[in-house]
Amino acid sequence: MGKTIIISNRLPLQINISDNKIEVTPSVGGLATGLKSFHQEGDSIWIGWTGLSSEEIPEDLQDEVEKKAMEQNCVPVSLTTDEIERFYYGFSNRTIWPLFHYFMEYTEFQPEHWEGYKTVNKKYCEAVVERLDDGDTVWVHDYQLLLLPEMIRKKKPNVTIGFFNHIPFPSYEVFRTLPWREEILRGMLGSDLIGFHTYDYERHFLRSVNRILRHDINFNSVNIGNRIVKSDSFPMGIDYNKFRDAALEHRTKPRSENTDIQKKLDYHKYVTRNTKLILSIDRLDYTKGIANRIRAYGYFLEKYPEYQEKVRLIMLAVPSRTNVPQYQLLKKEVDELVGRINGKFATVNWTPIWYFYRSMPFENLIDLYCSSEVALITPTRDGMNLVAKEYISTRIDNTGVLILSEMAGAAHELNEALIINPNNFEQIVDTIKQALEMPEEEQIRRNKVLQRRLKRYSVEKWAEDFMTNLKNTRKTRKAFK
Ligand code: UDP
Ligand code: G6P
Repeated sequence: MGKTIIISNRLPLQINISDNKIEVTPSVGGLATGLKSFHQEGDSIWIGWTGLSSEEIPEDLQDEVEKKAMEQNCVPVSLTTDEIERFYYGFSNRTIWPLFHYFMEYTEFQPEHWEGYKTVNKKYCEAVVERLDDGDTVWVHDYQLLLLPEMIRKKKPNVTIGFFNHIPFPSYEVFRTLPWREEILRGMLGSDLIGFHTYDYERHFLRSVNRILRHDINFNSVNIGNRIVKSDSFPMGIDYNKFRDAALEHRTKPRSENTDIQKKLDYHKYVTRNTKLILSIDRLDYTKGIANRIRAYGYFLEKYPEYQEKVRLIMLAVPSRTNVPQYQLLKKEVDELVGRINGKFATVNWTPIWYFYRSMPFENLIDLYCSSEVALITPTRDGMNLVAKEYISTRIDNTGVLILSEMAGAAHELNEALIINPNNFEQIVDTIKQALEMPEEEQIRRNKVLQRRLKRYSVEKWAEDFMTNLKNTRKTRKAFK
C-alpha cells in the first residue's frame, strides 16, 4: 500500500511571522479533521499554500517555514504576490467562484488570470510529483486546483487520483460560457473518482462532460477511451462529537476570557432575557445572501412590530478575499444596511443588530451557537454550508430552529429545518416569525432527527467513504486493462 498525498489550496496551518520568528500552528478546520486519519498515516503528506506570499516570508526564514510545516506533515507551495493575484484573486475567485455560484455578472474572463491559474496548478503538480511513487493515492481538493488531476496523471499514470469539488458545479448552460471549459473538464477527468456534495452537482458535471467533450456517460461513469472515470456524491459532514462536547462543556465551564462578544451574550442572557437571538454566521461573501438577509430582517421588524425589542440579530461576517472588488462593495453595503436598520429601529434599551466583522475563536463560535434560539442561513448558492450543521449539533437540549436556504447543499440532508427560497422575501419574513413561535416540542422533534443524521455521517465518515470508493476504482482500472 502506498502513501496518501492530500492537496488543497490552503494548508491546514496558520503561520505567523513576527520579529523574525516563525510560529506554525495547526488549524483544525473541517477538512483537516476529516482527513486526520489519512494525513497522519505512515509517510502521508498534505501539500498546499501557507496563505503568505513568498515576498512576505523573509528569505532566511524560508527553510525554517518548510521545516516547521514538515513537522506537521505539510509541504508548503510558495506563491509570489503576482501568482496570488492572478491565480487566487484572479481566476479562482473572479472566474470560477462566481461562475460556479451562478453569479455570471461578476464573472471575469481574463486570459492573464487563466495563464496564472495554469502556472500555479503546474507548480502544485511539481510539488506533488516530486514526492509521488507508483501505487500512491492522491486526493485533490476544490476549485482552485481543477487542472491538477490531469497534470499529475500525465506525469504518473499509475497513481490513484481523487478529486473533490467543494463548491457547486453549475448547470451546463452556465458552465458552457467559460472560454476554457474543455481544459477545465479534461483537468478534472485526470481523476479516477470525482466527488461532489450533491447528486445535482454531479449530474451537471456529467452533462457538461457529455455535451462539451462528447464522452459517453454510463450512469455515473465517464468512458474516456483508455480509462473509466467515476463520479459520485458525498455530502461532507462535520466533526459532530467535537461540537457536541464543546457545547456540553460550554454549559458548565467558566469562559477563559471575557471578550466583547461574550459580554454581549451575557447581557443578552442576564439583562434582556425576553429577547430572542437570531444568529447569522458566514464569510462575507456575496453568495451567502447576507445583504438580503439584513433587508428581510428589517422588513420583519416592520411587518411584525410586536417583535421590536423582542428579537435581536447577531451577525458574524468573517472577512474574506478582501482584494476582490465585489467583496469590498458587499462590505460597504452590509455596513450601510446594518447602520440603516439600527438607526431606524434602535431604542434606548435595544439594538436590533449586533454586527461583528472578524473571525472568532472556536470557543466564541460555540457560545454563539448555544445562545441563539434561531439560526438564519440564507445563501443564494452554497456548495454545502457547514455552519447549518454546526448549529444543530450544538443544541444540547434539542431546542433551536434552523432556517435554511434551499440553495445550500446542506438543505438536501436537513429537511427538518425550515427551508426557504432566499429570493422570496415574504417567505423569509414569515418563516422568521414561524421559527420564533415554534413550540418547543416541535423544535425538539425536528432537531433530534437532524442530530441523528449528522452524527451518523460525520466528516470522518465522509472522508472514509470517499477513500474507500477511490481505492475501489483500482479494481475497475485493472479490469479495464
Ligand atoms: N468559522 C470559523 N471562524 C469563524 C466563523 C466561522 O472558523 O469566525 C468556520 C465555521 O465553523 C465553518 C466554516 O468556518 O466550519 C465555514 O464553512 P461553511 O461551509 O459554512 O462556508 P464556507 O466559508 O466554506 O463557504
Ligand atoms: C470555501 C472554499 C474553500 C476555501 C474557503 C475559504 O469553503 O470551498 O476552498 O478555502 O471557502 O476561502 P479562502 O479563499 O479564504 O481560502
